Amino acid sequence: MSGYVVVGTQWGDEGKGKIVDLLTERVDIVARYGGGPNAGHTICVGSRRFALHHVPSGILRDGVLCVIGNGVVIEPASLLKEITDLREAGVRVEDNLRISDRAHLILPYHRGRDIAREEGVPNGKIGTTRLGVGPTYESKAGRYGLRVADLGDAAGLSAKVESLARMAGGAGGGRLPAEWSPDPGAVAQQFLEFGALMKPFVADTSRLLNERLDEGAVVLCEGAQGTMLDLDHGTYPFVTSSSSTAGGACTGLGISPIRVDGVIGVLKAYSTRVGEGPFPTEQDNDIGQRIRQRGREFGSTTGRPRRCGWFDALVARYSVMINQVECLALTLFDVLDDFDEIPIAVAYEHDGRRIDFPPTDPAVLRACRPVYEVLPGWKKDTSTARRFADLPEQARRYVERLEEVVGCGIGIISTSPQRDGTIVRPEGRIDRWLPVRQPVRTSS
Ligand code: IMO
Ligand code: MG
Repeated sequence: MSGYVVVGTQWGDEGKGKIVDLLTERVDIVARYGGGPNAGHTICVGSRRFALHHVPSGILRDGVLCVIGNGVVIEPASLLKEITDLREAGVRVEDNLRISDRAHLILPYHRGRDIAREEGVPNGKIGTTRLGVGPTYESKAGRYGLRVADLGDAAGLSAKVESLARMAGGAGGGRLPAEWSPDPGAVAQQFLEFGALMKPFVADTSRLLNERLDEGAVVLCEGAQGTMLDLDHGTYPFVTSSSSTAGGACTGLGISPIRVDGVIGVLKAYSTRVGEGPFPTEQDNDIGQRIRQRGREFGSTTGRPRRCGWFDALVARYSVMINQVECLALTLFDVLDDFDEIPIAVAYEHDGRRIDFPPTDPAVLRACRPVYEVLPGWKKDTSTARRFADLPEQARRYVERLEEVVGCGIGIISTSPQRDGTIVRPEGRIDRWLPVRQPVRTSS
């Protein structure tokens, strides 16, 4: 037993990639359990920035095995490009990456259906990444999906692709745009080629993970997206189509809940959201603009400007509960360095009543007005702080107030995108859960 889950506690883009990369020196394996190319994890090492979409953020450390689990949906051309780019940057991928043979594949028809649905359903826009992620999970649940293992069956592949093309183009999605509805025979041929290139990496990763856990390996389960984008627990229907919460780590990797020893929640010092859906603390004004500029809040997958707003304690409290988060990593802290005052939403008001917990109905959530508590800003650069005591007093106060209103300790504070722009607090659980090992050689 030694599984730890890193989960997003807001609407994604919390900086999970940096936190996973940081914790990688303390683990043997990093395993992605859900989502697909809709995820974008940016990691900075020195002057190099890596934008990863499928490959787990642990790949930048030698000697750490990275697993793309069965719960992930894979767009093979884009995964292969990530692998090539990493190789070109001198990162060793061959020995360090394994892809589940049970993972489902994104085909052009899925993308076509995603686009047709976004454009075709009146008032039904979700603001998806248009990469076909939702329709791929649809075909998985509908039992006509294509899995990595299917690429080994050259004789049967054409028929499978043909049936998938028919099903994915079916009712509800409108007509597929022509460019996303290629001839199934040609697609089957292309996917066979992708299969050959992926083959060295393909394995039964559930078995691999369980065997390694039995041997005493420490596995970090890397979540994509965030709790409020979870299919069941997020702001449905404005969510992604997979289980991004901690529970998804078990189904998405084939490991028992008994294997999970702890959950680390990644929390931005403010809030962002991409795409449609209610967002009570949104600042669609100069403040939001300032946060966006300072935090470089533009999608790493689609380049879309992210919607920005103040910290929402209700969302954080809810995520702490759903995921049983016992240690929070607070990220993008330095983005707030410049503000005179920093409000945090401690409750909502709806219909004259005060609410302490996010409501289920998106229409109600949309009608909620945040009740803010305003804290003084610290107006100093925090990016060079290495210990909690290095932070200005008002900044420490902000962190401590967040802990109080959220009801969970903050063990890590990230004050810049760089690896060393991080404070690990001794009273947090990280050193107890994941003690630093012998320093490992990094690939950069
Ligand atoms: P990371 O892992 C932020 C959002 C999309 C859209 C909704 C559904 O970087 O935190 P989809 O294409 O998944 O069907 O879109 O979910 N979304 C994300 N937002 N970060 C992500 O991933 C996201 N992945 C999906 O913007 O609103
Ligand atoms: Mg992202």
